[in-house]
Amino acid sequence: MTPTDENVARLQPDVEQIAPILVWHSRAEDYRKALMQRLPGVPVEVRSGPGRVKTSQARALLTWAPPPGALGQLQALEWIHVMGAGVDGLLGRDDLSASVQLTRSLGRFGDQIAEYVVGYLLHQFIAIEDYRRDQDRGVWNGQPRPLLKDSHVGVIGLGSIGQVVAERLAAFGAEISGVCRTARPVPHVSHVYDARNWRQMVPACDALVLTLPLTQESRGMIDASVLAQMRPGAVLINVSRAALIDEEALVLALRDGVLGAAILDVFEHEPLPEESPLWTEPRAWVTPHIAGPSEVDSITIEFADNYRRFVEGVPLANLVDRQRGY
Ligand code: GLV
Repeated sequence: MTPTDENVARLQPDVEQIAPILVWHSRAEDYRKALMQRLPGVPVEVRSGPGRVKTSQARALLTWAPPPGALGQLQALEWIHVMGAGVDGLLGRDDLSASVQLTRSLGRFGDQIAEYVVGYLLHQFIAIEDYRRDQDRGVWNGQPRPLLKDSHVGVIGLGSIGQVVAERLAAFGAEISGVCRTARPVPHVSHVYDARNWRQMVPACDALVLTLPLTQESRGMIDASVLAQMRPGAVLINVSRAALIDEEALVLALRDGVLGAAILDVFEHEPLPEESPLWTEPRAWVTPHIAGPSEVDSITIEFADNYRRFVEGVPLANLVDRQRGY
């Protein structure tokens, strides 16, 4: 996407209001180029690896996971915009000053993750992998064809990502239940559970999708007791953070055949270590954290819009509530 004259003009700040930006990321140069187009005249420094920053005047930082201690070196820093949806990696850091504002991205994570979820569920239901294997061996062997239309999917986390997942699955006719911190009506979701009663939803679901942030409350929430309540053959999809799930319990549930499949895009250690049992578990489907990639275009559009707010002193969009954890 190229910036239109209109949005460049709208985002061009007054000279007095210019706040230097630092981009700290392995793709910092790509982000800098995009920011130069969207915020002409604004100085953008880049860092792509560890190292000391001598005299950065940056008041705004665009980053994902800056090296340990990096934030403490930025004396003029007032605002950090995170390139991703989840900010759990930054919140616990001791170099994050309490006075710095923190914002996160919406990107196109809703669309990306919804397509990942629909794709992997259909892949399971149509047994695509089995037919390919049969084809390779010249075997003609039809299997039952469950439909997404007849399925009940539980979407745990009904924020900007979970809502799109619910909408896209509902378009296939699936019944959607969902969970958010405090129950409220959500389009396409027939029953919304809250943080206290969400376990009631589990036994009715053919699939559970985790689209909630990792916080103190959500850490480890998918434990052995929840897995034991899942329908035999049900599918668990995690596109959020690995620490939501007790991995040992998950591996046992997959081995015992309690779960039909676990579709996992996120892991405690990434890349997934060679010795992880998940690599070779037939019912686990491992993807390398690609369900909702950060895209330079959509992230810099959001950042530039927030930058304008920042220099004008109006409240930033998608501000993180540090108490809540997202
Ligand atoms: C990626 O994991 C993100 O939080 O955007």
